[in-house]
Amino acid sequence: MAIVFHPSSRNFHLYNDKISYIMTILKNDQMGQLYFGKRIRDKEDFNDLLELAKRPMSPCIFEGDSLFSLEHIKQEYPSYGRGDMRYPAYEILQKNGSHVTDFRYCSHKIYKGKPKIDGLPSTYVEQENEAETLEITLKDSVIQTKMILRYTIYEEYSVITRNVRFEHEGEEEICLTKALSCNVDLPDRRYELVQLTGAWGRERHVQIQQLVHGVHSIHSMRGNSSSQYNPFLALKRPETTETLGEVIGVSLVYSGNFLGQVEVDTYDVTRVSMGIHPQGFRWNLKSGEVFETPEVVIVYSERGLNGMSQTFHSLYRKRLIRGRWREKECPILINNWEGTYMDFTEDKILRLATTAKELGIELFVLDDGWFGKRNTDTSSLGDWYPNLEKLPSGITGLSEKIEKLGMKFGLWFEPEMVNKDSELYREHPDWILATPSRDSCHGRNQFILDFSKKEVVDHIFEQMDNVLATAKISYVKWDMNRCMTEVYSIGREAEEQGKVTHQYILGVYNLYERLISKYPHILFESCASGGGRFDAGMLYYAPQTWTSDDSDAVERLKIQYGTSFVYPISSIGSHVSASPNHQAMRVTPLSTRANVAYFGTFGYELDLEQLSQDEKQEVVQQIEHMKKYRHLIQSGIFYRLISPFETDCTAWMVVSEDKKEAIVGFYRILCPVNNRFQRMKLQGLDEKMVYQMIELGKGEKWEKSGDELMYVGFSVSDLSSGETNERFDGTNGDFQSRVYYLRCSVDS
Ligand code: DGJ
Repeated sequence: MAIVFHPSSRNFHLYNDKISYIMTILKNDQMGQLYFGKRIRDKEDFNDLLELAKRPMSPCIFEGDSLFSLEHIKQEYPSYGRGDMRYPAYEILQKNGSHVTDFRYCSHKIYKGKPKIDGLPSTYVEQENEAETLEITLKDSVIQTKMILRYTIYEEYSVITRNVRFEHEGEEEICLTKALSCNVDLPDRRYELVQLTGAWGRERHVQIQQLVHGVHSIHSMRGNSSSQYNPFLALKRPETTETLGEVIGVSLVYSGNFLGQVEVDTYDVTRVSMGIHPQGFRWNLKSGEVFETPEVVIVYSERGLNGMSQTFHSLYRKRLIRGRWREKECPILINNWEGTYMDFTEDKILRLATTAKELGIELFVLDDGWFGKRNTDTSSLGDWYPNLEKLPSGITGLSEKIEKLGMKFGLWFEPEMVNKDSELYREHPDWILATPSRDSCHGRNQFILDFSKKEVVDHIFEQMDNVLATAKISYVKWDMNRCMTEVYSIGREAEEQGKVTHQYILGVYNLYERLISKYPHILFESCASGGGRFDAGMLYYAPQTWTSDDSDAVERLKIQYGTSFVYPISSIGSHVSASPNHQAMRVTPLSTRANVAYFGTFGYELDLEQLSQDEKQEVVQQIEHMKKYRHLIQSGIFYRLISPFETDCTAWMVVSEDKKEAIVGFYRILCPVNNRFQRMKLQGLDEKMVYQMIELGKGEKWEKSGDELMYVGFSVSDLSSGETNERFDGTNGDFQSRVYYLRCSVDS
């Protein structure tokens, strides 16, 4: 790994074993983009990659020079107004009304390690020699503002991380109206855009489309990163598959409004940018003030989409997620939400917990409904003290009783919200986001606390702290159940209002940081009506995320498959829920529900008392399996094998880093009659090893070599021929699945 500067060509080359990222200081002292992709050997001068050509009618910077036009130069962090007619990465409004800027190279520094970004989540290093960082300082001498473009390259990962810092030194105030985290201009448009799109209950469905001229964007203007789009996009070559071919993946480490944009210009240059959404964003900078953008992580893979995902997984698992839970196996939990909703008593909870303990469950999570006077969603958000009518011994007493049963205890909060029917709102009606003299929209009968105000965050911290300090709490589920409207901070200056959406997120991060520092033993799971805030920003604070409120096993195949494009499966909250399922009303076998949930954090979310003895026995076995295999599932290398977006089947697998163990999930939705033969090929095994294979829940074992399993595959044909003497026995018919465990029996 190295970052090299060649003074004669003014080229920067960032490289490790796998990738190269090359830039140049352009003739006008701005930064030009030359190459990003597979590692190439270094040389003095790559400037021919600029492909400068005289284009008719282009606006040119230097008089007498018709070659140098920003209209067709590939750039690192472009502006609008000096000849580039594409979308800019940033914009600065000046007192005189002008938006034109001219940031010119001043200096650069290269150093070992990677700095933190103040108040924002980011990937990190543990040892300085894991990564090198380049900071390029440019300055606009008219407004007296510095722009620092920061790049980090890791030794181990095919990754470049970027962010930008503005430092204003001029006397006259300026206003940043756009400040994205990155821009990459790629030299052609032979790409397909991969994005994760959805809605509540069907988050992160994979969508792939060919790039054409023009602009395609994904975004959130909801205040959270959203279920509708995820702050991630990838550009893959048309021939790229899950296992082969080039892909560039871009993921924003941020949890609020974002914009991800791909613009293909008339010369087929593909401009990719991502960062905070400029809608409503206005950040004034007085002399001496700074603004820093969130971090963006850019992955290059020549091993297809799986290769890209594996890089994200490994980086995010090892160098984004923090704290003691980073290395630990996820506890198997029972969450009472779908079991009881808000209708529970202490007795009911203790009965559920007792049964859960008998079955082998390790953590009991009490969801919504334990505080204030909360029996419906119209009341009590903001009043974080126990409802003693429901829970006479309070949270302290209940948590102690649950710990006595031999389980850990977890608790749900929705810190950012308030109901009008609450003591908090009655005392502080001006603490919500609301525009003066106008009504505010509600969402699920609730309003948003103005987390851009320190006193609001302090107050919620105190309330949560009271609960956490006095009870035995090992886990917190942090929910967020509505998107933002009327974003306005009551009582603050007009010029400050454009900061509120971002400051709100900084307030959320601040509260998280204070809680995890004071309670490092607590495992946090983030949530936003299911997976409405499943992003890399959240993972910095909460190692797990509740993936979707849709807990149906069949629906979850698509949701978890799509989520795995970026996020490690150790972060994917997945539970076994009741059948018929509460969202899809679908009846599925208990085995399939567990077989899907195994590939995530694993837990249960149903009334265990409603299960038959046989079902309880099955649950005991499932829990034993998960305890046996979770080290592999949560720390191994994940491969997607068959896409639910392309066929009626889904398959995925996890292989241990030493390739000696693997676990494979195969799922078939509808039962075909007298079906074709079907074989499934595995990935990531050692060709030379021989593996003993066993199907979970079945006794049968067989042995096959790694090369046979990967290149020939093994049969997953459905055996139903539709003959009348065949009977439904629960292991045939629709919604069947199988999980296989493989262990190396003969090492090469
Ligand atoms: C939405 C979450 O996604 C659910 O799991 C549950 O916690 C409810 N909120 C509670 O209101």
